Amino acid sequence: MTDTLEPTTDQAGFARRDAAEIVAELTLEEKASLTSGASFWTTKAVERAGVPSIVLTDGPHGVRLQRGSADHLGIGDSVPATCFPPAVALGSTFDPELLERVGRALGEEARAEGVGVLLGPGINIKRSPLCGRNFEYLSEDPIVSGALGAALVRGLQSQGVGASLKHFAANNQEHDRMRASSDVDPRPLREIYLRGFQRVVEDAQPWTVMCSYNRINGVYASEDPWLLTSVLRDEWGFDGVVVSDWGAVNDRVAGLPAGLDLEMPASDGRTDAQLVAAVRDGRLDEAALDVAVRRAVELAQRATAGADADATYDVDAHHLLAREAAARGAVLLRNEGGLLPLAPATGSGNGQNVAVIGEFARTPRYQGAGSSLINPTRLDTALAAIEEQAGAGVVFAPGFAIDANDADAEASALVDEAVAAAAAADVAVLFLGLPAAHESEGFDREHLRLPGNQLALVDAVLEANPNTVVVLANGGVVELPFADRVPAILEGWLGGQAGGSGIADVLYGVVNPSGRLAETIPLRLEDTPAFLDFPGEFGHVRYGEGLFVGYRWYDARDAAVRYPFGHGLSYTTFAYSGLSIERDASGLTVRVTVENTGSRDGREVVQVYTGLAASTVQRAPRELKGFASVELAAGESREVSIAVRREDLAYWDTRVDRWVVEGGELTVEVGASSRDIRLTGTAAIDGDAVRLPLTMESSIGDVMADPIAGPAAAAALAGLAAGMGDTDVFTDEGMAKMMGSFPIGRLVGFPGIPVSYEQIEQLIAAANAGAGPADRTA
Ligand code: BGC
Repeated sequence: MTDTLEPTTDQAGFARRDAAEIVAELTLEEKASLTSGASFWTTKAVERAGVPSIVLTDGPHGVRLQRGSADHLGIGDSVPATCFPPAVALGSTFDPELLERVGRALGEEARAEGVGVLLGPGINIKRSPLCGRNFEYLSEDPIVSGALGAALVRGLQSQGVGASLKHFAANNQEHDRMRASSDVDPRPLREIYLRGFQRVVEDAQPWTVMCSYNRINGVYASEDPWLLTSVLRDEWGFDGVVVSDWGAVNDRVAGLPAGLDLEMPASDGRTDAQLVAAVRDGRLDEAALDVAVRRAVELAQRATAGADADATYDVDAHHLLAREAAARGAVLLRNEGGLLPLAPATGSGNGQNVAVIGEFARTPRYQGAGSSLINPTRLDTALAAIEEQAGAGVVFAPGFAIDANDADAEASALVDEAVAAAAAADVAVLFLGLPAAHESEGFDREHLRLPGNQLALVDAVLEANPNTVVVLANGGVVELPFADRVPAILEGWLGGQAGGSGIADVLYGVVNPSGRLAETIPLRLEDTPAFLDFPGEFGHVRYGEGLFVGYRWYDARDAAVRYPFGHGLSYTTFAYSGLSIERDASGLTVRVTVENTGSRDGREVVQVYTGLAASTVQRAPRELKGFASVELAAGESREVSIAVRREDLAYWDTRVDRWVVEGGELTVEVGASSRDIRLTGTAAIDGDAVRLPLTMESSIGDVMADPIAGPAAAAALAGLAAGMGDTDVFTDEGMAKMMGSFPIGRLVGFPGIPVSYEQIEQLIAAANAGAGPADRTA
């Protein structure tokens, strides 16, 4: 299939016309035609009315524009484009400013290729480390995903190219992804899985949102009016186009009024005809079609306004940006005895003798498989970059074959060679990672282990040279059984096309590492929150861990982890002091002074967590509410200010179906990771009022707590107690507790309790009417 890459119509003024007017000029068939694709990557044009076709393409960390045979699984070739680090590495930067720059660069490339919408970012929560597509997602935490996702969207759209925020929603596994129902309770759905989407929509207004393949609590995302209209549009104010994930449409006629505007890719006219027929026979209101078409026209207008046939981009500058991002996303997990940074070559001589071991140093694994597969403009290897930094004295040994696992004669020859190289060097740098076949879009991982041949190599190399550094290349977290034995570990994730040089920059201290874990590294798969509920069965996956995703789970259970959320070392050290917390109507302003107390310039990611120990609802002990990434010269100290939004303090109250901030004494923790809290303070928070009408089913406790009914009920109980000759009978602690959950309506007729049904009814009615003090006692 060949796509049309240029707009089919270049009608002057199209972008400025009133979209509703354009819709009014269209026939029913033309309107329906605008609600599905013309091809894999283009929308349809209606030339008669001046509506052009636009191009949508993957995404998210590069432009995968296919000019030849098209597919949505990364099979066919695409034009060369910068392969920026995938989301797993970008998430670890904790730096919205950097992500905005990456977004801008993506926008420049998309515009230069005539692309109107780039399909990303993907901000689904990393629920389980087994999800095959975690490399395309930012974090296990919604604030990180939301803040970074919004930054990417802002950068991209600043170039006149639309984002497609995906995959909306609760698409947290690949297994059975096109059918399975994610069965999630309302609180985790809102507080964990939707919160990041909400932030991106509200803060950055993406032009499009891509609905996911899966069902949510039994309903396909592509035909869920609650998700696509009530939540996305009515609550969050989304005004763009909802596009289906490629092939996510189940029932087009149900999907359209639910809020699915654009079906992708092409349906060969089949579903357009279904819409026409449904309008004709009255099953579908034409007004609903008009709304979807208006949005599609507005999208084409935005894309047309942003298009620039002469646009180009600076390939070298983008490669450098990809290198900067790769280095910034790498996380220094461990660095015993200051083994890193390595000594580079200087004017007076070469650097340390380094044995570079591991096939990944020569054959990088830098992106994940599937629809996000980019054809890079160039590709750096860590080996070449290390050779450049070290001057001379670098020996390379592949150590293992990437796709082999078992020990055989060939494997042991590779190990022998690696051991000899390690023994002769000052330092061994061992590049390990996951083979591409272990993680991909479309299927999940089976375990979290590195291949056995690589693990065996670690031991052999360590024995030959204790000064061993392990560098990891993987899109999802791996178990690190050697973590206590290897003195230095650098998690490089999938670093994009410049990942090799970015890693060398960190190894040699050209870049002082500042990457932080946006997801917990567990000790074992069995410890992970979704272990017992992943990937579900018979088309349903129950999110049994509820709110306790990622660090929330480990903290609530006080469980050990390999490396906690937010962790990441630097070649310098930072001291925290002077915590102050200010409150106003918009939330908290947390201020702290951070000092670089070491001898190197560096960057610190300051994290703010809150907790409410005395909460009446279930909560994790600490939840990230804000963060800042700050650059500090050696010796420099600076006050860092982090805003905590009041809405981020809210929980989803299932009694009233809305966000509620619970009042109380909030614990505010500021730290360098979720388990390296440096300063703790408190803030008294005013809660939102939640007034539930009293009923006969209300407990005596609820009634006593009511400002109107409470005093009246207390007076009645006091009278009763006096009559019984025991004034304390109802106020005694045990009795009060026991009576607390007793439904008030059930008191009627109890021997010795002279209260009538009508009296209780009156009490409730007075409370619900908000009656004044005179009435209360009546
Ligand atoms: C993926 C999307 C992607 C689309 C187009 C789908 O299979 O889930 O992320 O944007 O294909 O390639």
